[in-house]
Amino acid sequence: MSGRHIKIISVGAAVQDVFLSHSEEFKPVSDVSTHEQFMRLELGAKADVNNITFSTGGGATNAAVTFARQGLDAVFMGVLGHDPAGRAIIDVLDHEGVDTSHLSFNHKYNTGYSVLLLAPNGERTILTYRGASTHYHAGDFRVKGVEADWLYVSTLSGEFDILHTLFTEARKQGIKIMFNPGKSELLHPNKLRSLLEDVEVLCVNKDEASMLVEGETLEELVRHLHHFVPIAIVSDGPNGVVASDKTTIVRAGMYQDVRVVDRTGAGDAFGSGFLSQWVQGKNIAECIIFASANSTSVVNHIGAKTGILAKGTMLHHMPLHEKPY
Ligand SMILES: Nc1ncnc2c1ncn2[C@@H]1O[C@H](COP(=O)(O)OP(=O)(O)OP(=O)(O)O)[C@@H](O)[C@H]1O
Ligand SMILES: [Mg+2]
Repeated sequence: MSGRHIKIISVGAAVQDVFLSHSEEFKPVSDVSTHEQFMRLELGAKADVNNITFSTGGGATNAAVTFARQGLDAVFMGVLGHDPAGRAIIDVLDHEGVDTSHLSFNHKYNTGYSVLLLAPNGERTILTYRGASTHYHAGDFRVKGVEADWLYVSTLSGEFDILHTLFTEARKQGIKIMFNPGKSELLHPNKLRSLLEDVEVLCVNKDEASMLVEGETLEELVRHLHHFVPIAIVSDGPNGVVASDKTTIVRAGMYQDVRVVDRTGAGDAFGSGFLSQWVQGKNIAECIIFASANSTSVVNHIGAKTGILAKGTMLHHMPLHEKPY
């Protein structure tokens, strides 16, 4: 099947990301009693930073770039402010061939903006101003007339009424929904569960899945998520992933043991990577291989979009086990 005419709308946040790295001050410091890691920035001191990378992020713009690089019709739907950060995001999306004609502007808030302090091990501390990417109105997301096949929805900052209106309208238009909820949706599991009746594909990490259903293992979590959705995916960082469409259940390990330079965008690359193949008729195992390859490439580069794979990239095998559901 050719992907040329498959259209996916990515809904959610758009943020300018500024990465500061290569600084002695960003080395993690462990708390001996809790083993938690911290960055210690002395108040009043001036810390030297030897590398700066300007990039863009936000789950929806990251996903839209995966879809565009995979040759699909990608539409971004989200909210920007009237400012240089908003301009930078539009420039990047235009350059990637993402349709930006359906985005909205908020006249009161600035575009989302994050400063990411990158530690040498790829973990980071993020200072984030969510701004326009958290003040949404139902009118910002109009899918009628866009003639899309799929909606890829990342967090809408816990705006359940807007999500409900959006999902209902999408279903009315015959648009299928993949959902990768965020923290603010997961804080209200009951409301989130009731949204899932419209969702075709749910992608969450292990901690998030545990907030929705019972289960010790990834497979148990996936099986329980099937009470709500036909296709369930639960990832667990470098420990692997389980996915099922109720016909086949796939457990996969790590695609490649790469050096983690910056894990920003791993989840977005994974979820959008999965959908970019699913809409082209690939099976669960093929979709998981691409999703894993896409996210592995993203964590190997600074920025949430830099490593996103282009169409035609050669993939290799990965540890993967497939069985009937
Ligand atoms: N350290 C790593 N090495 C290799 N691949 C990784 C690593 N971390 C994540 N990935 C890849 O990214 C995928 C998604 O990561 P993860 O399960 O951490 O999602 P997430 O918690 O939703 O991420 P995010 O915080 O970006 O939302 C994994 O299934 C894996 O393929
Ligand atoms: Mg995630």
